[in-house]
Amino acid sequence: KAYALVPAAGSGSRVGAALPKQYLELAGRPLLYHSLLELARHPRIEQVFVVLAQGDDQFRRHDWRELGARVEPLYCGGKSRRDSVYNGLVAAMAAVQADDWVLVHDAARPCLPPSDLARLWEDCRNDAIGGILALPATDTVKRVGKDEAGAQRIAGTEDRTQLWLAQTPQMFRAGLLAQALRQAKGAVTDESSAVEQLG
Ligand code: C5P
Repeated sequence: KAYALVPAAGSGSRVGAALPKQYLELAGRPLLYHSLLELARHPRIEQVFVVLAQGDDQFRRHDWRELGARVEPLYCGGKSRRDSVYNGLVAAMAAVQADDWVLVHDAARPCLPPSDLARLWEDCRNDAIGGILALPATDTVKRVGKDEAGAQRIAGTEDRTQLWLAQTPQMFRAGLLAQALRQAKGAVTDESSAVEQLG
């Protein structure tokens, strides 16, 4: 089986708006609606768990019925994105089995093209581990260090043919993902970086 898990417990501090960005209005609806839509429509996804901040008072103000009955809020967000995904996964484990797929998708990424979701699903569903959506880097990427005086200096240019920009959804087996997130060290800004640490 497959499930979606959407971390939506961020405060959106970088956007600097009065509301967290997942609730900002886009085409007459909260941005979160557009992020959930393709997941809620996908024929293979049983449930879409939305991980909300514990004190979230916005979600219940909106009508999500158009997305169908598969959207389920979980009020267990954590301090970081990784904590929110892990807490959500633990809460979802009541329904989800260790071998089931979990597609983690950022609440702040609306308008996922259905063709991208379909391709991720088709390319990964027979894999043992999973996979992610990503874009090849098209900009020239610099590595930056500091000189003796502490000023920023270009230390080198990366080989962009080897660089990809990680996107979501990121699709892994539930048990493996929970283990990876539990054990991961350092900055874990996506699911894949935690799974990579497992080797
Ligand atoms: O802030 P950033 O763009 O990295 O957030 C990515 C996603 O993670 C957003 O959907 C945000 O709501 C979510 N998030 C979360 N819990 C946090 C921080 C971010 O669910 N503590």
